[in-house]
Order: sequence, then C-alpha cells, then structure tokens
Amino acid sequence: MKGKVAVVGGAGRVGSNAAYALQLGRTCEEIVLVDVAAEAARGEALDLTHGRAAVGHPRVRAGGYDAVEGSDVVMVTAGLRRRPEESRLQLVERNAALFREILASVAEVQLAPDAVLLVVANPVDVLVYLAATGLGWPARRVVGLGTMLDTLRFRSLLGEVLGLDPSRVDALVLGEHGDSMVPIFSALRYDGRPMPSLSQYSEKAVRDAFESTRTAGAECIRLKGGAGYAVGLAIREVVSSVLQDEGAVLPVSTLQPPGEFGGVAFSLPTRVARSGAQELVHTELSEEEQAGLLRSAEVLRSTIADLGGEATPTSKGGER
Ligand code: 2OP
Repeated sequence: MKGKVAVVGGAGRVGSNAAYALQLGRTCEEIVLVDVAAEAARGEALDLTHGRAAVGHPRVRAGGYDAVEGSDVVMVTAGLRRRPEESRLQLVERNAALFREILASVAEVQLAPDAVLLVVANPVDVLVYLAATGLGWPARRVVGLGTMLDTLRFRSLLGEVLGLDPSRVDALVLGEHGDSMVPIFSALRYDGRPMPSLSQYSEKAVRDAFESTRTAGAECIRLKGGAGYAVGLAIREVVSSVLQDEGAVLPVSTLQPPGEFGGVAFSLPTRVARSGAQELVHTELSEEEQAGLLRSAEVLRSTIADLGGEATPTSKGGER
C-alpha cells in the first residue's frame, strides 16, 4: 500500500468518509487532510489515527497545502452546497470559482511525479473539464469520480430489488454524473451471464433501480444532508487502481478526445493506472444508449459555454 493521498476538503462529510475508506482498504501509506475548517480537519485526522492500530497504515495528519507536497493523488472533495433559492448554474459558478482557487494552490505544490488529480466535488464533469484544460497537466492526469458512484449505487440497488449478491452484479452507468446519466442496460450481467436470463429478472425492477440511482444523491441530501459512505468506497476503487497501478476499467470522468464527445469531460469506461487515465475502453452500446451519451455531452457542453469555457480545450485534451 504505497502512496500518499491528499484530501482537499478532508474535514467534510465526503472527504472524511473517503479517508476512512482508504484506511479500511489499506489503500495508501499516508493521508493528509486539508480544509478551511482546520480544527475539524485536525479532529478527523486524530480520530482516524486512533484507529490505526487496527489496520496498520496509513499515517493521517491535517495540514495546509505545504503538507500536500509529495502526494501521488490529490483529491478535491471541497464544494459549496446549493442554497435553497439558488439555480444549478449559480451553484456551478460559485463552485467553479472555489475550484479554480484550489487548483491555483495545488499548482504551487511540489507533487510526486505524474501525480493524479482526482476531482470529486460537483459539478464533477465541469470541474474535470476546467482542470484538464486549465491546469497545464496532461489531461490523462485529471480524473473525475464521475459515474463511478452511480455505477456502485446501481449495482447495489439491483442487488436489493432482485435479491442478488450485488458484488456479483455487473452494471454500468455512463455520461454525466447528473440528471442526464445513462444506464447501460445492455451490459447487465450476473456472474458474467446476461441478467435477463435470471428467473427473478424484471425489466420494471431494473428501471426502478436505475431511477433510484439517478435520484440517490438528492435523496441522501434530503435525508441526511449528503452522501458519504458509498462515495468513500467509490473513491477508494479509483485511488487503489492508481496507487497499485491496477489498470482497472472504471467509469470515471475524463476530458474526451476530439470527436462526437469532444470538448466535454464525462464518464466512459477508462483504464486507470498510476499515470492516470491510460485509455478509453470500447463498450458496445445500443442506439438508445449512444443517443443518451450524446444528450449528456450536449448538457455539459452548454453548461461549460454558460461558464464562458472554450468550446474546445486549450490543452492537448484527451491525450492518453
Ligand atoms: C452524490 O451523487 C452529491 O454527487 C454526490 O451523492
């Protein structure tokens, strides 16, 4: 479990749950929690340290951006919550401004060679686009959690509604981590077999499970103020594939190369390893699924345009 991970926003619900998931998963050897709420970050680091004897690694501490030095993964979970009267775009504008400030601070830190920026804050796809086109790093080193969380939720909820072991469910959600996310029903498998072959399969149950997936983020916010545990586990999958150089194929958000999805960042099956997003992995899609992804890309393209982003990225976006 080599590697150092910095969590910018580490005192927040998502950041602290991500740190705990990394600790339980023995994913890395050091975690640094950075947060404007410095005392709360110290408290989270202290609490995590108290449990260290049970899991061995990692060393956990709180600090400023100077403590981020040498990190292999810099995760940004810090984000502002939508105000009741606020439009989605107004929140996007506020979060984009906060994110640009964080990027400026990260850019001044001497990180490990080929360090990967893992974007978790929302709107994750727009923030991935801003980082991949504005940080000056190769686009492959900017990865967004994207629909990794939606895919985990979809697999888990399918297990619930069909009475299956969710760890043996193969399911995929792609596109925007948002309302236009696309379920890949044609890829549903259980123990590697097409799911419709199961006696308990029901198309209605599957569509209900996806609808619960699509609204899960808002439901967590309504019931408990926001997600934490599942997003921490989704983050651990991505961080592990980077630090252990696993090359796992994950639905993470990256800046797409020129072409039908050019000029946006969103989630497609992507091989993730120590250098970041190594390559897109082709996946058979139905016409409906392909149309859904095109719609998702269009939603993101218009949000980026509203923010005043370039239609096409300035960096050599999409290089692998
Ligand atoms: C979620 O889907 C808020 O993006 C976060 O729970």
